Amino acid sequence: APTCKIGPSVLNADLSQIAAESVRLLDSGADYLHLDVMDGHFVPNLTFGHPVVKCLRTKVPEAFFDMHMMVSKPEQWVEPMGQAGANQYTFHLEATRDVSGISRKIKEAGMKVGIAIKPGTPVSEIVPHIDLADMILIMTVEPGFGGQSFKTDMLPKVEFLRKNYPELDIEVDGGVGLANIDACAEAGANMIVAGTSIITASDPGKVIRTMKESVFN
Ligand code: DX5
Ligand code: ZN
Repeated sequence: APTCKIGPSVLNADLSQIAAESVRLLDSGADYLHLDVMDGHFVPNLTFGHPVVKCLRTKVPEAFFDMHMMVSKPEQWVEPMGQAGANQYTFHLEATRDVSGISRKIKEAGMKVGIAIKPGTPVSEIVPHIDLADMILIMTVEPGFGGQSFKTDMLPKVEFLRKNYPELDIEVDGGVGLANIDACAEAGANMIVAGTSIITASDPGKVIRTMKESVFN
């Protein structure tokens, strides 16, 4: 399986300081940034969009931006996000009927393709689309809010994907922390998103280091 990477989510950080928070996380050992975009429609919450991402890009020119698009019209934001400097565009399977069209658009905009599924969506629904994707995101909470508790019963989805697609990037997102990162990695996840468990720590670098150690053992 591909090597494990840690991608902090800035959702629960001080968003008035998103650039400083991002720099702090990258300096603390983050491998990439997971940026949660919510439109108040696909999920009952609002965050930020491509104008903020564009400004953030100027402050952290090198970071890999993994956009988690919790939006009802994912096709609408592909070009603006590409122009804003996003590296990967992860849309929800539940939000589109044209997976191949949007995937093509994402590639044309120079980004990697991620496809996410909510806890209620069976992993079998993603299978016909895997060849289009660089990464599959298995949500381990209902999307919309940080700080929820991890749904252990999502791990069989990860196990199934890892068994059948040894080289696929598989991401988990929601409620991940030191208590369950081992289980995520053992199931086969190699892109680990963690929000509050890193953001609320007095020493985020220590949490990221401990996460990496526990995952490589
Ligand atoms: C939830 C978001 C997650 C979340 C992660 O809708 O997609 O990225 O913010 O935060 P924690 O780790 O606190 O669940
Ligand atoms: Zn997310």
